[in-house]
Amino acid sequence: MLSYRHSFHAGNHADVLKHSVQSLILQSLKVKDKAFVYIDTHAGAGCYDLHSKEMDKTGEYLDGINRLWQQDCPVELQPFMDVIKALNVDGELRSYPGSPLLAKELCRRQDRLRLSELHPADFPRLQSLFKQDRRTQIDKLDGFSNLRAALPPIERRGMVLIDPPYELDHEYSDVVKGVMEGLKRWASGTFVIWYPVVHSDDVSFLERKFSAPELPATLQIELNVLAENNRYGMTGSGMIVINPPWKLEQQMSDILPWLVTTLGQSPKAGFKLRWLVRES
Ligand SMILES: C[S@@+](CC[C@H](N)C(=O)[O-])C[C@H]1O[C@@H](n2cnc3c(N)ncnc32)[C@H](O)[C@@H]1O
Repeated sequence: MLSYRHSFHAGNHADVLKHSVQSLILQSLKVKDKAFVYIDTHAGAGCYDLHSKEMDKTGEYLDGINRLWQQDCPVELQPFMDVIKALNVDGELRSYPGSPLLAKELCRRQDRLRLSELHPADFPRLQSLFKQDRRTQIDKLDGFSNLRAALPPIERRGMVLIDPPYELDHEYSDVVKGVMEGLKRWASGTFVIWYPVVHSDDVSFLERKFSAPELPATLQIELNVLAENNRYGMTGSGMIVINPPWKLEQQMSDILPWLVTTLGQSPKAGFKLRWLVRES
């Protein structure tokens, strides 16, 4: 069952958090000339029309990227915002990059991208976006099986973004299983897991699993735009980052208060930034 379409949600507050973290990690990987790999297990369509009929129904980007557009953003977010500006050259915000397009723009000639997407409509859209890009392999395969096949990467450097729709209950345990298996093959890889804040039990499940003391250093980053309520849909979102770049915690502690002010929809908006597992 593939009912989820990211085109209804592109550019919302959760995408802003996810893509901010993704761009910071990619920028850190670029500090060294040595090539790295970017793996995206649930890639989506790659680029989204913010004036589409799907978006007309939800308007989610209005409380997301639209609030950052035309603002003075923290310097750490500049690479992310530059990609969005380059997509919208006439100054009107119409298009929003998904995680694959953001990676396409931020990765270098020597880097490699490997993307998985299963949806029959989104897969060809993703393919056409990368038609001329020889760095990129795109597979219409299950993201977790494809991840197993991709690890360990020859470069031994890079990041894996895991961003499933979480529409099916088993997706939470699939994420844990996929990451644990991935770490066995590539212990030094940076694994980045996105999650929605909807039901506190699901968030606690991930927190518990990714706090296991045998894991490498693991950072949790969460942005809540509304007070958590367990009933009325997504009130925030988070990222669990295993083997984060050493500067990420500091960068997020600079950026998150600004994101709360810019994206918060209630006086109870806030953030979480903490180590689930500290570097041993
Ligand atoms: C949240 S969206 C991805 C958004 C994208 N990462 C971004 O940030 O722009 C999740 C995507 O996963 C796809 N999907 C669902 N199950 C999948 C699976 N088992 N393997 C690969 N892709 C899957 C859906 O079709 C959907 O496009």
